[in-house]
Amino acid sequence: MPENRSTAKNDDWLIELFSSMLFGAFTLAWRFRTELAVFCSPIWLSNLLTPLLGGSAGSLLALALVVLAFSVPKSRRWILHRLYVSRLRRRWERACRAVELTDRDQKPSTVTDAAKIAAGDRIVVRVHRGGSVEDLDRNRERLASALGVREVRVTRDSVNAAFAHVSIARRDPLEVAEPMRWPHVDAATLSLWQPIPVGVDDDGEVDLIHLPERNVLIGGEPGAGKSVALSMIVATAALDPNVRLWLLDGKQVELASWSPMAERSVGPSIEEAISVLRDLQREMDARYTALLEVGLRKVEPGIGMPMHLVVCDELAFYLTVSDRKPRGEFGDLMRDLVSRGRAAGIVVVAATQKPSHDIIPTSLRDLFGFRWALRCNTPQASDTILGAGWASQGFDASSVAGFQRGVGFLLAEESSPRRLLSYYLSDDDLEDLARRAQVTRAGIGGGDVAA
Ligand SMILES: Nc1ncnc2c1ncn2[C@@H]1O[C@H](COP(=O)(O)OP(=O)(O)OP(=O)(O)O)[C@@H](O)[C@H]1O
Ligand SMILES: [Mg+2]
Repeated sequence: MPENRSTAKNDDWLIELFSSMLFGAFTLAWRFRTELAVFCSPIWLSNLLTPLLGGSAGSLLALALVVLAFSVPKSRRWILHRLYVSRLRRRWERACRAVELTDRDQKPSTVTDAAKIAAGDRIVVRVHRGGSVEDLDRNRERLASALGVREVRVTRDSVNAAFAHVSIARRDPLEVAEPMRWPHVDAATLSLWQPIPVGVDDDGEVDLIHLPERNVLIGGEPGAGKSVALSMIVATAALDPNVRLWLLDGKQVELASWSPMAERSVGPSIEEAISVLRDLQREMDARYTALLEVGLRKVEPGIGMPMHLVVCDELAFYLTVSDRKPRGEFGDLMRDLVSRGRAAGIVVVAATQKPSHDIIPTSLRDLFGFRWALRCNTPQASDTILGAGWASQGFDASSVAGFQRGVGFLLAEESSPRRLLSYYLSDDDLEDLARRAQVTRAGIGGGDVAA
């Protein structure tokens, strides 16, 4: 009998050792090869349950648990997601080792989460010990080559400097077969106080322009898509019956649909354009006096001061007229309006075909909160719109292919430019929108207000 007891004790000890080895192997497999851990999980579970329930009952329950885990959608999704993250983590770590982005013990940065995006995958990366997000960003070209993908983009986490959000682009999501219709194309009324969807970026996210207190500058070569981009903003203003529209159109035809609802619509006449800007300057000064009287610092919705939207298609036309005096006066008035108009509820949206320093000086460009560079001829032209240095960092509108109309880079204040494809409004859409805007403004419109 005592002999039997000691044999049982030996067996217990062996079983315990075997169990902990199995658990250790499972944890290791989970860390280094999640697929292996998932594959081995029935054996591990059965080993865990057999001492409690007995041989076949333990094995059966283990098998049932695994089947259950795969048949419940939530847990199946979780397992598949972990397998996906683990696959990306292995690839990422291999690439980091290949470009020598590791700590002193050869440990690379690691992937903590991942999600699919239109261009490929976006991963959350914890940088290696002693490294920084800047190291990753500097090596993005080498990482893209090691991963064998089109592009790698790195953004620092806004809260924790040890984390980066890395987009791994395998394809160009902006190469779409059909133009994308503007989401607000069927709206009955809109508000200029609400963000305006203008396009979709590389990550498949909708880009929004929030106009109050910001001006917009759009630049690009002929046919790049400037007027289409402008028209989404003008359509929003037109469908907001509280907005006063002022149109300056060097070509006359680009903004023609909106002229019936404009306060004033000016063609290629510098004198008329100056007279409109003078009117607006007077309005701006009167507003600041009124705001001072009521103790406000800026125009807000519902205080009885409607927003004014000044739209200028072909800014370069007015800034390059041969007569120096009116050219200078136009430039001064425009600069004053762009710099002081924001808080007074006067917003300028301008487009230009010739983005060059002599036409759009830095002092004027910098006053625009949103800068949108569509395809340009040169990196310098792209920088004239976005700001010096962006092209060399990869945000270069001259890299947009000629056939990619509507593709460009949009820079909003205090961030880096985002590559996007703008929504499209056909001539028929514009006609429809303009007709609806006229009806709404005449006070007989109805329907839903798009938020
Ligand atoms: N977002 C878009 N999606 C698809 N096609 C587009 C888009 N934007 C523009 N296009 C195409 O490009 C053409 C030219 O666009 P648009 O008239 O806006 O260019 P532009 O930059 O204003 O040219 P210009 O400088 O000559 O006035 C459009 O007629 C349309 O066919
Ligand atoms: Mg145009």
